[in-house]
Amino acid sequence: MSLHEKYIAGIMLAMLTASSITVKAQTKIVPQLGKNSIQEVVAAMTLQEKCTLLVGAGKAPRPKQAAGLKAGMSNGFVAPPPMIGKTEVKVEGAAGNTNAIPRLGIPSMVLSDGPAGVRISPHRKGDSSHTYYATAFPVGTLLASTWDPAVVESVGKAFGNEVKEYGIDILLAPGVNIHRNPLNGRNFEYYSEDPLIAGKMAAALINGVQSNGVGTSIKHFAANNQETDRNFVNSEVSQRALRELYLKNFRIAITESHPWTVMSSYNRLNGSYTAERHDLITTVLRDEWKFKGFVMTDWGGGFSDVAEEKAGNDLIMPGRPDQIEDLMEAAQHDSLSMKILNENVAHILAIILKSPSFKKYAYSNKPDLKAHALVSRKAATEGMILLKNDAQTLPIVKKVKSIAAFGNASYFTIAGGTGSGDVNKAYVISVAQGLSNAGYKTDPILETSYTTFVKDTSAKLWANAKKEHHWPGPVPEMMVNEDKIADEANTADLALITIGRNAGEGSDRDLATNYTLTANEQQQIKKIANSFHAKSKKVVVVLNIGGVIDMNGWQDNADAILLAWQPGEEAGNAIADILSGKVDPSGKLATTFPVKYEDVPSAKNFPGEPANKPEHVVYQEGIYVGYRYYDTYKVKPMYEFGYGLSYTHFAISNLKLSSAVFNGVLTATVTVKNSGKVAGKEVVQAYISAPTKTIDKPAQELKAFGKTRLLQPGESQTLTFKINAADLASFHTDKSEWITDAGSYIFKAGASSRDIRQTANFSVAKAIMVEKDHDVLKPEVAIDEYKGK
Ligand code: BGC
Repeated sequence: MSLHEKYIAGIMLAMLTASSITVKAQTKIVPQLGKNSIQEVVAAMTLQEKCTLLVGAGKAPRPKQAAGLKAGMSNGFVAPPPMIGKTEVKVEGAAGNTNAIPRLGIPSMVLSDGPAGVRISPHRKGDSSHTYYATAFPVGTLLASTWDPAVVESVGKAFGNEVKEYGIDILLAPGVNIHRNPLNGRNFEYYSEDPLIAGKMAAALINGVQSNGVGTSIKHFAANNQETDRNFVNSEVSQRALRELYLKNFRIAITESHPWTVMSSYNRLNGSYTAERHDLITTVLRDEWKFKGFVMTDWGGGFSDVAEEKAGNDLIMPGRPDQIEDLMEAAQHDSLSMKILNENVAHILAIILKSPSFKKYAYSNKPDLKAHALVSRKAATEGMILLKNDAQTLPIVKKVKSIAAFGNASYFTIAGGTGSGDVNKAYVISVAQGLSNAGYKTDPILETSYTTFVKDTSAKLWANAKKEHHWPGPVPEMMVNEDKIADEANTADLALITIGRNAGEGSDRDLATNYTLTANEQQQIKKIANSFHAKSKKVVVVLNIGGVIDMNGWQDNADAILLAWQPGEEAGNAIADILSGKVDPSGKLATTFPVKYEDVPSAKNFPGEPANKPEHVVYQEGIYVGYRYYDTYKVKPMYEFGYGLSYTHFAISNLKLSSAVFNGVLTATVTVKNSGKVAGKEVVQAYISAPTKTIDKPAQELKAFGKTRLLQPGESQTLTFKINAADLASFHTDKSEWITDAGSYIFKAGASSRDIRQTANFSVAKAIMVEKDHDVLKPEVAIDEYKGK
């Protein structure tokens, strides 16, 4: 080798060595998520990358109105920082995405609504060969009415499979807020007035969904119990009502199912936005309850991005580029510490690691919608409630062959509510279609009249609404003329009237027109009943509703009433399953139907003050919500919590307690026997009345429940309930302690809250301090709360 050659070789060797050093150095300084620890990845992130991860990948510029309110931002528009992540829209119609940071191997996650089915666009631009419909499952209120976590978990499993197969990482569900007032427009998404039912049902759904390796976001945390002025209203709630009702539902679900994420709510709580409350999100959720996932805002919820991050609300959704800049600015000016940023980033990274997007799951876009429709139908039948059944009108007797189906909702049956809780389903089986599928004859002329009327009226309402720039109102009930009703009474064997009600995100229900049946509806029910009863034929009313309605003035005209709720896409088939007796009704109310709206304990304080645009809403009823109020204050409901009829009868007997003196765990057993003539299932509800020497308590509270398997006539099953000290404890605000008071307790086994079949006494010898919590979430103003009787 010549000198020159040696020289060149030397240079090349040096270059090679240098480049391999650079390669090594680069590999070393760019850790990758999954290959390196989360701490190493966080340490390698620039400030901009961290803030990019903490803000969702929404692209909208800062809204003008909000901009002026933030320090230093006067013109309403801030140039967005350059995007680091390359976030493509993977799933059209999904609610949001997180930002990707490819340099560190961090993918974007897809987040999608909602509680009753995956909410994505069914069609995609440039893709006419495939549709992306999702199964519409029954709404939350129906699922809770099953009183059967196993059924709800089976829905969760099918639901989660759709989440995964459509390329989604996190489902924005379940909604677990308490039914504080029947007018809340989103009650259909939620489960119950009772935190135990709500918590157990949410846990079952989450466990089912997450068994697929996808996440959930339990929402809306917390005290978000109305839609009116939801982004501003301040919920003023006592610490005790929060602990015993409005947080307890979340606590049960979170500790029993470990959702990947929690969504904070839109409202303020005792003065500040929930997303900005460190005491709620860090002290209670993470420190007390040991929640390990991440917290996200509701879409556009909260006010100050920086306060949200400080509170521990990790992800800001849907996210705007200028919010990234806000956070960076705060970090640079030391008003947001790097420690907080790092912790919040780490919370999100830990979930990304588990996500299908990180694992590069090859989703099919072809979930088994046929199989899931069966799951939806089965769950729907399990949660429908037979409210009334005079003279065994139902199941429909053999000789009934033809049914006159009245009511717009017999033909346009409502699968679920509106807003983010709505699902783009391929179809909804109407009540009329379901009856016909079950072999009943329905009248095609009636069908044509209803179909034409609803379509034409809806088109007119939309045209007007567009002109006047508002949403169209509901289509009014079609009035069938008296001759036609008489004609139907002559030819059909039975009348069926479906009453439909819908509501959803953004507004609460109108008392006069949505909660109450209109004068036309009431008159029509009466006319139909008169004509059919004159011919000794029965009238069945099906309630296709998302929340409690007024039953006065019309229910006496009906021989039977089936509360079908909003039962998902298989609505008509599931309703026919119950009406025909193919399935015995076994649903029970998880929310009370009062005699009149004024009886609702929050009626005076809903939706808050001032009435036209409430700034605050006082939860004056405290812990006395639903049956806790009706039972304590001795107000008779129309249909009580836990109520529901069956085609058979059950005897509940032989209540036995493990011990008459509480020793840490109380085990109770009861025998349930099907004493009727057809197979069915019974729900046994365990209520406890506790001593009230130290603080006031509801007359009784649900502490456990169980549903039997399908029992054949004459068959029995023993149900077992376990009660521990925490279940018996009340929250003593003065000490911030959960205490099981000493004294006498009554254990009650009932078929409803007012149909107690067996009782047994036990005592607690010495008070038990079960848990000491932080003294947080105090109301800013004194609340003149209900104190029981
Ligand atoms: C709703 C949430 C929903 C989110 C995303 C919000 O308006 O309150 O429940 O998950 O939008 O669609």
